[in-house]
Amino acid sequence: MHIRIRYLLSWLAIAAVLGPFSASIANGDRPASRQGPGDARDGYEQAGYRTDSLSLEARQGEETDLLVVLDTPPLGLPPIPVPENNPVTVDKVRLGRKLFFDRRLSANNTISCAMCHIAEQGFAQNELRTPVGIEGKSVRRNAPTIYNTAYLSHLFHGGRESSLENQVWQPLLADNEMGNLSIGATIERIERLEDYDGLFERAFGRKADVQTIGMALASYERVLVSGDSSFDRWFYGNDDSALSPAAVRGFELFRSKGGCVSCHTVSSKFALFTDSDFHNTGIGYFATMRPPEEELEVLLAPGHSERIETDVLRSTGTQTFRDLGRYEVTGLPADRWRYRTPSLRNIALTAPYMHDGSLSSLRDVLRFYNRGGVPNEVLDARIRPLGLTDAEIDDLLAFLASLTGSNVDVIVSDAYAAPIGGG
Ligand code: HEC
Ligand code: HEC
Repeated sequence: MHIRIRYLLSWLAIAAVLGPFSASIANGDRPASRQGPGDARDGYEQAGYRTDSLSLEARQGEETDLLVVLDTPPLGLPPIPVPENNPVTVDKVRLGRKLFFDRRLSANNTISCAMCHIAEQGFAQNELRTPVGIEGKSVRRNAPTIYNTAYLSHLFHGGRESSLENQVWQPLLADNEMGNLSIGATIERIERLEDYDGLFERAFGRKADVQTIGMALASYERVLVSGDSSFDRWFYGNDDSALSPAAVRGFELFRSKGGCVSCHTVSSKFALFTDSDFHNTGIGYFATMRPPEEELEVLLAPGHSERIETDVLRSTGTQTFRDLGRYEVTGLPADRWRYRTPSLRNIALTAPYMHDGSLSSLRDVLRFYNRGGVPNEVLDARIRPLGLTDAEIDDLLAFLASLTGSNVDVIVSDAYAAPIGGG
């Protein structure tokens, strides 16, 4: 009993220390893409809080033709790179989607990919700085969005993987994510599921194996492409009415005084908002050097918080994480605390921010940049105090909020149409 209470406390605590994320949602309005089982948590810190979650049964979705983006990428995005040995087909995408939402792919039938990459939360996870995996185990980094991963040459915050096909085996096998003991055990697990009978054969002409599992999941992820935002319609579509004056001013600041565009790049034909490179903003340095906190203020229920010893909070984790960023991949001292520049598309949907989820809202991110990041011996030279006024920060926020793609609701609805395997 004691253990169960501690366990419950830890869950509540992890969710609670994050604080409310409402400020990060564009203009304080709940985007349509958040309709469904997810909970916007607006006002969770107040006693009068009422949830607007729906039960899983109540969620409804409509399947859509996700493959249209292959012929016509959304405005503002380049053609989707597709590897020659894994052309995208309807059967692969359907199978990949089924796998993505299937909790039976984890060692104890509890965790699916979609539980950390939640469709209505921008395929990221808004509730936790860093997700919780199998058996309540802590995960080291913030869950990034799956939108537009098709364009990434380096996957993960430190860029340790280069192909979506290969990437899937990391969460499937990690003992704090989906907990499968081996590749073979994962394949056998899928072979035992009768509702997969014939699906791999139809998509690939062969059974589930180390390659076809990755190829199916990658095919689904590859078509989760989202652009045609207000910004795109204004910048690439020449529609003057698509962007508010504040967002237009924000984009100017993004290019000039803010210096953001040198890393979050925008070209004349398309914008990925990432240079695919790695930079030190000081976030990782700060996390490494910060003295451990003894106690944390924890929101246990709406309107009720207590101070709790961090030892109790750590009980879900088995280790204290260290994170040196790109250095872990290259071993080069200059790469310490460098992380990949994330895309900023759909950024209003994917709080909290940075590789460790340590910044709760976009306003916090802008204040962080405005202060000049966290100084350290390998800080990127472009991260320096910016002298932005509050009004300029508001304009930048309006710009960032204009980067939400027009098709996210359609993609979320399509995701709801997928059966939750093992539910
Ligand atoms: C327990 C939570 C969790 C589960 C389950 C999970 N992921 Fe992730 N995912 C993460 C985290 C955290 C990262 C970033 C890790 C890092 O950078 O070291 C990530 C990174 C990724 C990335 C790279 C994105 C980028 O921007 O580089 C992809 C793609 C991805 N996951 C797909 C999947 C797929 C497919 C599955 C299921 C087979 C899955 N994930 C299961 C938490 C999870
Ligand atoms: C030197 C390159 C560089 C510059 C300049 C820069 N960024 Fe970043 N940005 C990064 C990197 C690297 C990260 C990821 C840091 C991490 O994960 O710890 C990041 C993260 C972010 C994030 C969070 C993304 C997420 O998904 O968590 C936002 C928002 C952001 N930057 C906006 C801006 C804005 C606005 C500016 C200008 C004021 C700016 N950036 C300037 C490199 C840069």
